[in-house]
Amino acid sequence: MVAGSCQDKKNKDVLKILRYKFVALSSGLIFYTMQVSKTVRKVTTHILNEMKLKGEKIAMLTAYDYSMARIIDEAEIDVILVGDSASNVMAGYDTTLPITLDNMIYHAASVVRGVRRALVVVDLPFGTYQGDSKEALVSAIRIMKETGAAAVKLEGGEQVAESIERILTAGIPVMGHLGLTPQSIHKFGTYVVRAREEEEARRLMEDARILEKTGCFALVLEKIPARLAGEVTSTLKIPVIGIGAGPKTDGQVLVIHDMLGITQEFSPRFLRRYLNLYAEIKGAVQTYITDVRSQSFPNDKEQY
Ligand code: KIV
Repeated sequence: MVAGSCQDKKNKDVLKILRYKFVALSSGLIFYTMQVSKTVRKVTTHILNEMKLKGEKIAMLTAYDYSMARIIDEAEIDVILVGDSASNVMAGYDTTLPITLDNMIYHAASVVRGVRRALVVVDLPFGTYQGDSKEALVSAIRIMKETGAAAVKLEGGEQVAESIERILTAGIPVMGHLGLTPQSIHKFGTYVVRAREEEEARRLMEDARILEKTGCFALVLEKIPARLAGEVTSTLKIPVIGIGAGPKTDGQVLVIHDMLGITQEFSPRFLRRYLNLYAEIKGAVQTYITDVRSQSFPNDKEQY
């Protein structure tokens, strides 16, 4: 079976499938039974829109591999972003610039194999969509074909509108990203809060309107003042997801390594750590080393 049709099957947007079945009894009687099997309701871009309309907050996290994607999908996260933050947390680079399209496809395909419910969005990496809308389309098509994801995300406003427009012609949903846009770090020089000044805030609002008009299905706002994020959220009809953008957005996104406390050195004010996995993992590994060295592992029951 080809990957696409397998995915289609998984994606069936139904809560329950009712199946009628003939059952033949030994007496020769035949009657109907009704089997009720549960399938998962896949999150779609339309569902995110409905959530905004109903005032239900959208929960989004990043993931880069099968095992983590499976856990957070089973926890019922709404959106999984295969972020180019993989460049930092998976590959150990200082910035998101070095990660390649092939790298992103590898991560995204692994994530999709672990997901049944969440909407999977994949970042277009630096250098694969800016400046040449035809290249943007080719990059986005590769992501959709080779990963089975449901949408792509890219950074920037008016300057990438032509790329977004062209990607949309292929029926590929696009999520925008404004505010702190890490792919432009060398232009800005620092990771400080963006759009504090009136002129930059005005520009951001204008870009947000352009992205909505161009056809983005959602928008990420990163590290901007909460008041501005609230204004953008109430101005736009599409869902707005914030990271370091306060409580008024339609949803929140965090990098999974940050919220689980795997990363240590990154501690911005907006980050809430739900675990300290760095310490947990280190402690477990130290205990294992002690057990191996003292020959208490494996014990009598842990062998054949
Ligand atoms: O790459 C990423 O993880 C992101 C989020 C921070 C939104 O773009």
